[in-house]
Amino acid sequence: MTVYQATASAPVNIACIKYWGKRDTKLILPTNSSLSVTLDQDHLRSTTTSRADPSFEKDRLWLNGEEDEIKEGGRLATCIKEVKSLRRQLEEKDASLPKISGYPVHISSHNNFPTAAGLASSASGFAALVASLAALYQLPTDASRLSLIARQGSGSACRSLFGGFVAWQMGEKADGSDSYAVQVAPREHWPDVHALICVVNDEKKGTSSTSGMQRTVETSALLQHRIAHVVPERMRAISDAIKARDFDAFARITMQDSNQFHAVCLDTDPPIFYMNDVSRAIIALIVEYNRVALANSGKLKAAYTYDAGPNAVIYAPKENIKEIVELIVKYFPQAQAFKDPFALFSGKDVQGK
Ligand code: DP6
Repeated sequence: MTVYQATASAPVNIACIKYWGKRDTKLILPTNSSLSVTLDQDHLRSTTTSRADPSFEKDRLWLNGEEDEIKEGGRLATCIKEVKSLRRQLEEKDASLPKISGYPVHISSHNNFPTAAGLASSASGFAALVASLAALYQLPTDASRLSLIARQGSGSACRSLFGGFVAWQMGEKADGSDSYAVQVAPREHWPDVHALICVVNDEKKGTSSTSGMQRTVETSALLQHRIAHVVPERMRAISDAIKARDFDAFARITMQDSNQFHAVCLDTDPPIFYMNDVSRAIIALIVEYNRVALANSGKLKAAYTYDAGPNAVIYAPKENIKEIVELIVKYFPQAQAFKDPFALFSGKDVQGK
């Protein structure tokens, strides 16, 4: 008997130009384009195994060993349906293919880091889910095509199907067919940029990205300014910076965009706070570090960015990472510096050890 099973894994990505706001909540079409770096370490990944079998009663999913309901019409169901329909099209074209698109699937997914702590678990999760189903069904797919499906699981997930520096082009069409991810540059283009994750708090966040960003769309005037007048130019400028390996420009834009994203959250009614005092103290530390670096060498040495949570991600050229970890340990004695590139504030390993 043939076993139809496949495993795929996908890493977390951390945005430099933030996605925040949907113009279509069902199809997950964003109000602006975004750009991220896919982390290539093994520490922040989702690994997903999918299996199709005619003896299964229905589609089922387990997340970190616990069953998650697949709600009809929900995001999981949509992703599974879309991948199955691609398989069905193949089966219709090629009669020699086994007809497995009609079999129910069982899906098991594991994150090796805290779920929903603002560490983009939904991004790696939906990317790994779509990649494992695509492998199961042996779809001859390119990553941009799969990103159209992962996007409907969680917007930021579309970017985790590529490594390196990745843009999610917002697109214009109402059906979402031009809202997908593309690679701006592979990791090897600029291996010198490293990411340092500072886990300030690994608990589940208060306001989910999904509900928070809709509240922003409904209430923030600043968001409208950002969408129309800020992000398009920043997307061009940061893509150029990446292509030219210009860390100074990359760092400036990344920090500005993190700041504006959190400003937009504050401009939401009622306001949303994702950063805490430790997050802000880390910003102050990086600002001071950069001020001294600028005075000495005319160059920035690090860039901070924060997603929908208090944890800092610091991008920096590799040669500065050791110094930054030492600085953080000095000013945050409760921090435990783990092996490069991790600095942890919670006292707990991100892998739950
Ligand atoms: C702050 O992709 O989690 O991390 O599409 O509703 O699932 P949904 O939202 P999600 O939002 C991510 C927001 C962000 C910025 C980013 O990754 O670009």
